Amino acid sequence: MRVINEMKLLFTSLSVNESFGRSAVSSFLLQLDPTIAELNEIRTALSEAITNSVVHAYKDIEGIIEINTKIYDNRTVYIRVKDKGCGIINISQAMEAMYTTAPNEERSGLGFSVMLQFMDKVQVSSKPKQGTTVTMTKRLSDNSRVSK
Ligand SMILES: Nc1ncnc2c1ncn2[C@@H]1O[C@H](COP(=O)(O)OP(=O)(O)OP(=O)(O)O)[C@@H](O)[C@H]1O
Ligand SMILES: [Mg+2]
Repeated sequence: MRVINEMKLLFTSLSVNESFGRSAVSSFLLQLDPTIAELNEIRTALSEAITNSVVHAYKDIEGIIEINTKIYDNRTVYIRVKDKGCGIINISQAMEAMYTTAPNEERSGLGFSVMLQFMDKVQVSSKPKQGTTVTMTKRLSDNSRVSK
């Protein structure tokens, strides 16, 4: 597998930037001519990852969110969302459906479940007080150009 295109974004962890990050990545991926369903799935998964960095990683502070997007020659999309926020102590617990550390803020604990549902692969690495990196990949259908 070979990377044929790549881009990186850095932005401040303001909630107004959630849609910016999502739209910038979607625009970049349009060159693959994805189906509307594929694009919506990626946008939804990405929104969850960005929101987590905004509301959890940088809770009550501002920090930088970095998104790295790569396109491979077999139509695989790679998206890495990285923050230098509070980090996650127990990653497998955090990824369980309905687990949330913010029930009072009416979070439902389903962000990681959504990412896992819509992407082929989701990997999380994190260190308390250092930050979190979420890596997601999805291979787009080969016939998306004709089946739309
Ligand atoms: N980038 C991050 N930095 C620090 N903690 C995180 C990060 N992402 C997730 N978490 C932790 O993992 C938990 C589960 O995340 P998940 O997205 O599944 O649910 P949620 O954000 O609590 O609720 P929802 O996404 O449904 O609004 C969060 O409550 C939070 O404690
Ligand atoms: Mg979440």
